[in-house]
Amino acid sequence: MKSNPKTPSDSSVEMREMVMPNHTNPQNTVFGGTVMSWIDVAAAMVAARHCGRPVVTAHIDDIDFIAPIKMGYHVLIQASLNYVGRTSMIVGVKVTSENPYTGESRTTTKAYLTFVALDDLGRPVEVPSLSPVSEDEKRRFENAKKRVSMKKTVRDSLRQKS
Ligand SMILES: CC(C)(COP(=O)(O)OP(=O)(O)OC[C@H]1O[C@@H](n2cnc3c(N)ncnc32)[C@H](O)[C@@H]1OP(=O)(O)O)[C@@H](O)C(=O)NCCC(=O)NCCS
Repeated sequence: MKSNPKTPSDSSVEMREMVMPNHTNPQNTVFGGTVMSWIDVAAAMVAARHCGRPVVTAHIDDIDFIAPIKMGYHVLIQASLNYVGRTSMIVGVKVTSENPYTGESRTTTKAYLTFVALDDLGRPVEVPSLSPVSEDEKRRFENAKKRVSMKKTVRDSLRQKS
């Protein structure tokens, strides 16, 4: 039996990083794998906060690198739960770079990740339902639901052809 529904703000996470030389590529901007690691950590914290269980990353969807992030810039990673299935949770993450000297900021990366909650034996376990409250949360919920359904259609069609 599912427990009471939770809202996206019950589990949302904000993390900050400062771009150091060990985060960068030969162009002196952040290495894509570093951004992916920050995204995965923030999103995993959201999923674990929602279900109160250990979680694993099952899938990373639609990661868009929109703009590079320069050395010395500050990075804001905002993650919140968009949708839940029976045992899976879809987390949306937005990364923003901030010039610490001018305050100028821009969105640099967006991604959607699917996590699965695990029981004490490492098997998928049911998660609490999600109740979106704000208009943005409701829009993200509906969009994620469409994405899940589209992915299932593609998967089924590929399975039939193979
Ligand atoms: C994720 C994992 C637990 C799923 O196990 P499974 O035996 O396939 O479980 P199920 O088929 O019952 O699927 C469980 C849920 O995961 C979802 N799921 C599984 N694989 C998925 C994928 N590739 N993309 C999206 N959702 C997926 C299913 O749709 C189902 O969701 P629902 O319960 O909300 O309907 C298993 O594949 C695993 O352990 N993968 C490795 C995880 C890992 O090591 N991650 C990296 C480090 S954290």
